Amino acid sequence: MTGADRRRMQEPADAAAAATRAAQPAVLITGAGGEVGHGLMDALKDDAATALVGLDIRELPEEYAAMCAETLRGDICDATLLQPLHERYRITHIYHLAALLSSRAERDPEQAHRINVDGSMTLFRFAVEQARRYGEPVTFVYPSSIAVYGLPDLATKERAGAVGEPQFLDPVTMYGCNKLYVEHLGRYFSRHYRQIEMPPPPPPVDFRCVRYPGLISAHTVPSGGTSDYAPEMLHAAAQGEPYACFVREDARIPFMTMPDAIEATLTLAHAPRESLRHCVYNLGAFAPRAEGFAELVREFFPQARITFEPHPKRQAMVDSWPADVDTTAARTEWGFAPKHDLHTAFAEYLVPAVKRRYGVA
Ligand SMILES: NC(=O)c1ccc[n+]([C@@H]2O[C@H](COP(=O)([O-])OP(=O)(O)OC[C@H]3O[C@@H](n4cnc5c(N)ncnc54)[C@H](O)[C@@H]3O)[C@@H](O)[C@H]2O)c1
Repeated sequence: MTGADRRRMQEPADAAAAATRAAQPAVLITGAGGEVGHGLMDALKDDAATALVGLDIRELPEEYAAMCAETLRGDICDATLLQPLHERYRITHIYHLAALLSSRAERDPEQAHRINVDGSMTLFRFAVEQARRYGEPVTFVYPSSIAVYGLPDLATKERAGAVGEPQFLDPVTMYGCNKLYVEHLGRYFSRHYRQIEMPPPPPPVDFRCVRYPGLISAHTVPSGGTSDYAPEMLHAAAQGEPYACFVREDARIPFMTMPDAIEATLTLAHAPRESLRHCVYNLGAFAPRAEGFAELVREFFPQARITFEPHPKRQAMVDSWPADVDTTAARTEWGFAPKHDLHTAFAEYLVPAVKRRYGVA
């Protein structure tokens, strides 16, 4: 190698080192105004070494905006919104939460594709530029969903039991299609990016994906998700309101509590790279029938008035999702260990917080 060759190789590394010195390390959270975004910001706000940058199409509540070094209000598909961040921050982690959720996505599939797929692509491009500038791959954490699964009928769902990550990937919803495709994009950017070049460039993205089950939060009343019947039942009961459940008594999918989801997401984000053999991991903690939730809600709120009035389309979506998921890979590779089972989720987390929220004794 000549001296000129050596200098040419050295220059990009020197430029990346200089850029790194100038820029502040930061974590970017898209969809920061949502349920999961709030949970992540609460967990990350005390890390003084890393600035938080929150992006959402809605204005962040003041309390959450105050946790951020910078907030961006706008559409995730708008690349110009992200552009100024390159100079200011070396983004070490992206938590890409911005999405149109399942029921809403089904009402406007084109819009869902735009936000869920084009928006993700905008963010992958942003990560590629960050990696080029700072010479390090960006850890890209992505919440996928059990909506990527599509079981053909109830008999198959019953037989399949806890489904593994590679099984039944035939989603029936736009949201599920979007999530599955973005999982593939993430794998591409982290393992096969520009593979035709010789030698191929280093991967710009370290993609880490969790497939969330239905998430139950004591603090936020959900809207737009197809797994929302469980939290909706509880919030209605605590307010003394009747609730007509939009799925049948025997409907069954996996769930976990929001604190367990946040903890798991952060654990995966910081797991040693060498311990991870997969890009995508199932998560789940309990999988009762809808009637099982109703029984527990009545145990804690005996006056609860819950009826079952299945919405045929939303029921069909739930029927296509697995009754349970196999979480072996997450448990063995990075120590996924949810704290709440169904009973402790209610007794220790949901019921006390929901009672406080609505001032119930
Ligand atoms: N909550 C669940 O049960 C669940 C289950 C599986 C997967 N997920 C995934 O987790 C992530 C977070 O979910 P959540 O429950 O916090 O959802 P949420 O609907 O509460 O939050 C999503 C946020 O994205 C924002 N957003 C929507 N469109 C946007 C756009 N075009 N540009 C910028 N921001 C936009 C919304 O304003 C909202 O604040 C999503 O990707 C979702 O698909 C959630």
